[in-house]
Amino acid sequence: MSVPIPAEDPRYIPNRAVVDPSAITDNVRALKSALDEQTALMAVVKADGYGHGMLATARAALEGGATWLGAAHPAGALALSHAGLDVPILTWMYEPRTAAALLPDLVAAGIDVSVGSMEMLHLVIDASRSVERRARVHLKIDTGMGRNGVLPSQAAPVVQAIREEDFVQLVAAWTHLTDADVPSDPATDQQVDVFDSTVAALTEEFGTIPLQHLANSAALLSRPDLHRDLVRPGIAMYGYPPVETDLPLRPAMTVTSRLALVKEVPAGTTVGYGRLHTAASTTRLGLVPMGYADGLHRAASGKVSVLVRTAEGDRVVPQVGRISMDQIVLDLGPDSVAKAGDEVILFGDARIGHESTPAEDGPGPDAAGSDGPAATTAYDWARAAVTIPYEVLTSINARVPREVRP
Ligand SMILES: Cc1ncc(COP(=O)(O)O)c(C=O)c1O
Repeated sequence: MSVPIPAEDPRYIPNRAVVDPSAITDNVRALKSALDEQTALMAVVKADGYGHGMLATARAALEGGATWLGAAHPAGALALSHAGLDVPILTWMYEPRTAAALLPDLVAAGIDVSVGSMEMLHLVIDASRSVERRARVHLKIDTGMGRNGVLPSQAAPVVQAIREEDFVQLVAAWTHLTDADVPSDPATDQQVDVFDSTVAALTEEFGTIPLQHLANSAALLSRPDLHRDLVRPGIAMYGYPPVETDLPLRPAMTVTSRLALVKEVPAGTTVGYGRLHTAASTTRLGLVPMGYADGLHRAASGKVSVLVRTAEGDRVVPQVGRISMDQIVLDLGPDSVAKAGDEVILFGDARIGHESTPAEDGPGPDAAGSDGPAATTAYDWARAAVTIPYEVLTSINARVPREVRP
């Protein structure tokens, strides 16, 4: 039995991950515009909607035209179903213990399950027999990812076993691409060849498989030929396309905080553990009460800038010194009018801010959004920390209260 860690009361936390569901809705609409009418869109809402909140994300995506939902963990899929989201849901990441505990409920709820081995198939069959309901199975084919999925050479016996079992029904064949974010990489075509030849052989031996799906965000945006029956975007839906696109996608998460302290310091002042930074001249330092324990990447120390909303407008200023567990330091510049309490946007959309900001504290989101500098993005943090926006978004953890904007 796990014991919940008492949460810090969000009312007294100055940090927020502000989630804008309309951005997700608009992004999904834009992604849908790149699809043929008969291609469906599965919104991938695993990992708590890439950190944005699974249910809010799912609802926003459905409003934008998604007609499927995908969650890696069965518990997530079940939560979507319990929330009354009445669309096909696919889940794919389970082991025997989870399967024994949850698959019967999943099958009873009509949730689609992925099968990537004979063992997984038997887990699904056991579950479906126990609830006397036919499970809808997506056969995952390992075309080069080397993770879950049946190797092409071992796919036929699994399909044979599905065909022989009344309690399971094969509804799809699917795979996941390793390198679609590098459109010139031949790995994608190699995977597609393996997928297509495996599906062709299975079709010849066992009959048509109703659905095929393999496109993540990158393939959705760069390979229309891979859209097939269903596409499965994740990161693009959250506003971070992994390849060049003309589609108007915008970040759905904006991470904000407030300055805890502003102080003028003389030249020679050092900042943070290891004294990575020394002020070259007199300047004003701003302290932000957020650090790596909130999910900011320590590897980005001294390599990112953030936006500070001051009485004189928005200013993008560098973060200096090492990122600590609970705090970071900004070099506001010698003439900054920033003061304790001013809003800081760590990354996201500059038009988003604390609701109390505009009237009380000077120029608000509208002024900033139209004329001011753009906020730093999860791309900037990813570059600085030598990682990917996926990790930047999903690292913002439960210590940062989510605020879903109506
Ligand atoms: C099986 C599967 N499909 C689709 C996606 C969505 O990928 P992306 O966020 O790159 O669009 C993921 C995420 O990694 C995934 O695991």
